[in-house]
Amino acid sequence: MFRCAVDPFCGSRFRFVSFQLQKESADMQFKDKKLDRNAPCWCGSGKKYKHCHMDFDEKIREFEVKGFIVPERKLIKTPEQVEGIKASAKINIAVLDEVASKIKIGMSTEEIDRIVYDTTTKMGGIPAPLNYEGFPKSVCTSINEEVCHGIPSPDVILKDGDIINVDVSTIYHGYFSDSSRMFCMGNVSPEKKKLVDVTKECVEIGIKNVKPWTCLGDMGNAVHQHAVENGYSVVREIGGHGCGIEFHEDPWVSYVSVPGTEMLMVPGMCFTIEPMVNMGRDDIFQDEENGWTIYTEDGLPSAQWEVQVLVTENGCEVIAY
Ligand code: MF3
Ligand code: CO
Repeated sequence: MFRCAVDPFCGSRFRFVSFQLQKESADMQFKDKKLDRNAPCWCGSGKKYKHCHMDFDEKIREFEVKGFIVPERKLIKTPEQVEGIKASAKINIAVLDEVASKIKIGMSTEEIDRIVYDTTTKMGGIPAPLNYEGFPKSVCTSINEEVCHGIPSPDVILKDGDIINVDVSTIYHGYFSDSSRMFCMGNVSPEKKKLVDVTKECVEIGIKNVKPWTCLGDMGNAVHQHAVENGYSVVREIGGHGCGIEFHEDPWVSYVSVPGTEMLMVPGMCFTIEPMVNMGRDDIFQDEENGWTIYTEDGLPSAQWEVQVLVTENGCEVIAY
């Protein structure tokens, strides 16, 4: 197999590009149109701005003045958008439940793709990965040392002892959802089982650390700590992302981050928590033939669970899992 270093310019989930976007959005907040106090609020509530989001916007502005990276208005989901994203997430969850009930040793990843396509479209949705930047299938299936973006194939058969991530994303009435789960096939070694379990704990810790008016770096750092305490590493170059109106929107979400850095979390933001945890070193490379699949450089296994959360007044709501 050919190997190449991961090209930092090749997608919005990769660090460099998104860092630029973050800087742009930091500049943007000032450019969000300042509404008249008596104008109807931007959130669609029908209330006057001064009785709705005016204080909220002012609070964001205060953080921005102190030097925080703050979300521009379009990253704050309106109640109508939240309903749309939740309806999409309902399909995403149902698709993963369907995969969970059918996945078994001897099945090809192509068959998983078929289950995802059929279940999604029967419920009126569209699999978001299909044709996304040229991705050829409806779902990502990543086995053992594959970190993410594995492409389903009739030639890839699930074996006893495999761990596999099935990453499902849905478009429904224009709204996006995204979540993934791990499946352990048959007799998985205790080492791999622990990796899968600790990675799930990392996501649970991430969820607990989504608190409005704190930074994404606080959450990402908590996730990282737990992985490191267990002797694992976390992939640096690929992270989570805002999700809802687009498949991949700002902010880019690192799980190797420093407290007090990265974007401020505010109620109404919607993003994924999806750390890729490696049993060995954090180095990765991209499949040069298919241009998608990411592997661990040392060939040791990697695990990932993904949830999509909505930031609330006192924490977050998990909307896709
Ligand atoms: N959950 C993955 C992500 O956030 C889904 C990737 S689909 C692909 O990027 F088409 F980009 F592979
Ligand atoms: Co994702």
